[in-house]
Amino acid sequence: MILNGNNIREAFPILERSVYGKRFVYFDNAATSQKPREVLELHDTIYRNSNANIHRAVHRLSAEATDLYEQGRAAVKRFINAGEDGCVILTSGATASFNLLAHSFTARFVGKGDRILVSEAEHHSNLVPWQLACDRVGAELGFIPVDDRGEIILDEYERMLDGRVKLVSVAQVSNVLGIVNPIREMVSMAHAKGIPVAVDGAQGVVHSESDVAALGCDFYIFSGHKIYAPAGTGVLYGKKALLEKMPPFFGGGDMVGTVSFEGTTYAPLPLKFEAGTPNYPAAACYAPALKMAEAMRSDADVFHEERRIVMFLVEQLQKINGLRIAGLPRDMGNKVPVISFSVEGAHPEDMALILDKMGIAVRSGLMCAEPLVRKFSDKGLLRISLLPYNTMEEAEFFMECLKKTLAMLKAI
Ligand SMILES: Cc1ncc(COP(=O)(O)O)c(C=O)c1O
Repeated sequence: MILNGNNIREAFPILERSVYGKRFVYFDNAATSQKPREVLELHDTIYRNSNANIHRAVHRLSAEATDLYEQGRAAVKRFINAGEDGCVILTSGATASFNLLAHSFTARFVGKGDRILVSEAEHHSNLVPWQLACDRVGAELGFIPVDDRGEIILDEYERMLDGRVKLVSVAQVSNVLGIVNPIREMVSMAHAKGIPVAVDGAQGVVHSESDVAALGCDFYIFSGHKIYAPAGTGVLYGKKALLEKMPPFFGGGDMVGTVSFEGTTYAPLPLKFEAGTPNYPAAACYAPALKMAEAMRSDADVFHEERRIVMFLVEQLQKINGLRIAGLPRDMGNKVPVISFSVEGAHPEDMALILDKMGIAVRSGLMCAEPLVRKFSDKGLLRISLLPYNTMEEAEFFMECLKKTLAMLKAI
């Protein structure tokens, strides 16, 4: 199918369903994306036709499943423009990638008194693994501040880049604020001091550039399920020179060279970091999933419609008395369709429950970014997050329903 702004929805069967007998509006895409038909079909075909454990047996089905898994990896490598072989590690999700990175990077490169910098706007998965790892090696975490608009304060960041800092790990786009951070600039500033940078691309891979060579980062992490692949898929990209020095995280089958009771040697990259049976049917689906993402991102109509919808929603929301958006960059070109807000006198969970009854799926609460969300509202936030299969008509319907909701809650 050739994609364009008109037929994207047809590629996603779930969007045809209704909820409570009403049209279904899915505005919770930052949590997970819906899956296109090609992904559903490949996943199904693998289990029906080519199911066998990968990398292990000499038989035909194992070879087919291995090929499909490696085609998934090749699709990731192309999509993020990772030059070197061996530098794309497939994991079960961004969280698994961060735990791997935090454990193995600190084990090799971080000692007592050293620092890792993250921003104040991180998802828990780019925060808690560093807390655990820093505790283990006696290092400490530093927090790059964001201002009231949700933008990283670059002057402060530059001041924090001192000799103790061994790594910067920062979100490309926060799952709450929906602002594209100036990653290229942040990478250059860190590299000028010899400090490597890891980027949390869980939202950025969907809404911003995913070219790791252009970004210049040393590590890039994302989850496949947020970009049309099945759940249980994640990526850790790393520069080979760093990955080669890092010890494995999980031990087990497939990640070894030779094993004896006296000791073990490890497989070359990327398998050194891929112990055990991976979710190979899901990982194989990177190929159709990223083809879909590529088709969407290269369509100018899709891009312009998305910009129009973002501006419409932000403008309409700002007209509501007592409503405050968390994440309003100076340059609205940096705002992606991830919009979180609070409304005076209305609890986000109540709003989400009422909107659900109207057929609209949104997210409410602390959104796995508690320190950041609490900076904006103690009760949590309501978040809407869109992908190119969402339409202006849905955005208008959402605004109507939100106003009805706030009237019911006597907040307007
Ligand atoms: C910015 C960001 N980082 C990391 C994650 C963690 O992803 P996962 O739960 O797929 O491991 C998410 C998920 O919402 C996210 O939005």
